[in-house]
Amino acid sequence: MPKVFVTRRIPEVGPQKLRRQSGWEVAQWDRDEVIPRDTLLQSVRGCDAILSLLTERIDAELLEAAGPQLQVVANLAVGFDNFVVPEMSRRGVIGTNTPDVLTDTTADLAFALMMATARMLPQAQKYVLDGKWTTWEPLGFLGQDIHHATLGLIGLGRIGAAVARRGAGFDMKVIYYDAYRRQDLEQQFGYQYRDSLETVLGEADFVSLHTPLTDETRHLMNAQRLAMMKPTAILINTSRGPVVDPQALYQALKAGTIWAAGLDVTEPEPLPVGDPLLTLHNCLVVPHIASASVNTRNAMSELAADNIINVLSGRAPKTPVNREVVEQKGLR
Ligand code: DGY
Repeated sequence: MPKVFVTRRIPEVGPQKLRRQSGWEVAQWDRDEVIPRDTLLQSVRGCDAILSLLTERIDAELLEAAGPQLQVVANLAVGFDNFVVPEMSRRGVIGTNTPDVLTDTTADLAFALMMATARMLPQAQKYVLDGKWTTWEPLGFLGQDIHHATLGLIGLGRIGAAVARRGAGFDMKVIYYDAYRRQDLEQQFGYQYRDSLETVLGEADFVSLHTPLTDETRHLMNAQRLAMMKPTAILINTSRGPVVDPQALYQALKAGTIWAAGLDVTEPEPLPVGDPLLTLHNCLVVPHIASASVNTRNAMSELAADNIINVLSGRAPKTPVNREVVEQKGLR
């Protein structure tokens, strides 16, 4: 009888679909909080599949605790830096993620952060709530324009390209740097490629990060690179917190060498109350909510469940991250 463990309370559509599989035993950490590591290690014992979150590290220890019958770990996220992929592949465990279904929702949030930081919306709302709005102010809340500004994308994958489309709708000039050049999108939409990250940083009014977290991208935005941005420029991060060096960002925002930052992700995460970044008026932080819409979280839950159902039924998962293991197993 296949055994599945779901590591958190998530939108019901996925767990329900798993429970409808006849003869499957589906257990769940049914709380809205991160499962303690030792409980996780006990809970996955003997499982054929795990539906995990980005808060669970899927490493040798966990794979060992699960045992040799584990076939698939389905992440409820497009990012999978919580997977130690070589270790999973070595043991023949398929990893899956949830791309595509969250692309537009994540791009919407990146754009919302651009607009909120550029036009100082959190500060303006606080001003109203504090009872300080007494007159129309010709010098109050003077922000940066989004329309006709230059949007610099670091990464033009699915989400980067969706942010680019939004930028084009605001008459922005879209420039990008990516290791994989997208001449198709350049020709179709007029996006302009730059052959280095640094060139994008020097030209852009908005820099939006769309790169996975790897050893190469950890602290990609360090003091030196932040110093290349314009003093009027805004940094947006909806990728992973550690792509930005938080101390360097604090210094840049405090000194005003960049204008503002909008962060959906931070290092560490959650960011503790009292963190220096939270003391700054020009740093907007939201709690990793880029994919948080009802429809998208339902779709993520369903896709993660479908990936498990496919693998445990002898079919290829829809969205594997280590395709070579799918091929080794001859799944189609
Ligand atoms: C992801 O999918 O990687 C996000 O960070 C969570 O939606």
